[in-house]
Amino acid sequence: MRIAVLPGDGIGQEVTAQAVKVLRALSANNGPQFEMTEALLGDCAFDAHGDPLPEATLEAARRAEGILFGAAGTYESDLRPPESRGGHGLLRLRKALDLFANFRPVYAFPELLGASSLRREVIEGVDLVVLRELTSDIYFGTPRGIDRTPGRRSAHNTMRYTEAEVARVAHAGFQAARRRRRQLCSVDKANVLETSVLWRELVGEVARDYPDVELRHEYVDAMAMHLIRRPRDFDVIVTGNIFGDILSDAAAMLTGSIGMLPSASLNAESLGLYEPVHGSAPDIAGKDIANPLASILSAAMMLRHSGGQEAAASLVEAAVRRVLAEGYRTGDIMEPGATRLGTQAMGDAVAAA
Ligand code: NAI
Ligand code: MG
Repeated sequence: MRIAVLPGDGIGQEVTAQAVKVLRALSANNGPQFEMTEALLGDCAFDAHGDPLPEATLEAARRAEGILFGAAGTYESDLRPPESRGGHGLLRLRKALDLFANFRPVYAFPELLGASSLRREVIEGVDLVVLRELTSDIYFGTPRGIDRTPGRRSAHNTMRYTEAEVARVAHAGFQAARRRRRQLCSVDKANVLETSVLWRELVGEVARDYPDVELRHEYVDAMAMHLIRRPRDFDVIVTGNIFGDILSDAAAMLTGSIGMLPSASLNAESLGLYEPVHGSAPDIAGKDIANPLASILSAAMMLRHSGGQEAAASLVEAAVRRVLAEGYRTGDIMEPGATRLGTQAMGDAVAAA
């Protein structure tokens, strides 16, 4: 499998190195072989080439079957003009590859129930996926702008969805539900927004192709409550870009640490970009304390969805669970009586398992 490895900035570099270590361990033990090309994305690329997404990186990503990404940006660059922002490189890459389907699985590891600050009876058994549309909606709609006329300042954005955009993410949702527990929950705000009225209509039409999947609709405000109160009731949740942004961050906290959460962003050709949900964490970068499990689990998703390597993917996930069951923890998921490991030692432990 051809992989573009884009570690990016901050802890992105530290955690991606551990995922690469785990992939190499698979290859060394009669597993799949990988052709890995490393390239720069983010502040590191801007500092080296004056562009957060250099042409060579885009090329490597286009040639790859899977992209393993770390994180891009830092607090300083977040405040610079867009073209020089590390995170802007990632947005451009998503758009260039048309990565419209963003999957964020939220799984409550039984081994980690003690580490979460939430109530055990709520999160035990949680196993859901938020599917967020990633390339349209109010984040991209035009017209948009700010009028700074003194005393009459105003600003506007445009929420826009087309039939094709909604239909393809709906299909992705139904197909994901088919591979799981066959329940799809579509989230919108159809009581107020025209885009949501159309969204609901189109999801209902696509549903005719999937009579074996149970479909229900929820309003986004009600969904915010359901996610916190009874997250176990959900299998696949499909929603638009802005609702998905907010709901997926809320869902992320169900499992205790952002350091455990992988994600995948796929296009229609099953090329995917796989990355931990967290960012570059400048506060802990360079200290060998970041949790690499989100990155390692992202590599497992890559093996499954872009590499067709289901057995290898399951092996990686089983290795993570074994290391957790043996009581090894990074600082963010530390519990009394557990053994604390640094980033590299955690990577070594998973590779060995
Ligand atoms: P963040 O996810 O980097 O950090 C939030 C908090 O979680 C921090 O306290 C951090 O130490 C902790 N944390 C994150 N990952 C962890 C891990 N693997 N193990 C242990 N603790 C972990 O989010 P923040 O602080 O909002 O953003 C930092 C920078 O990252 C910003 O420049 C932001 O723009 C960028 N960012 C990039 C993303 C991407 O590349 N996809 C996503 C989110 C943020
Ligand atoms: Mg977000």
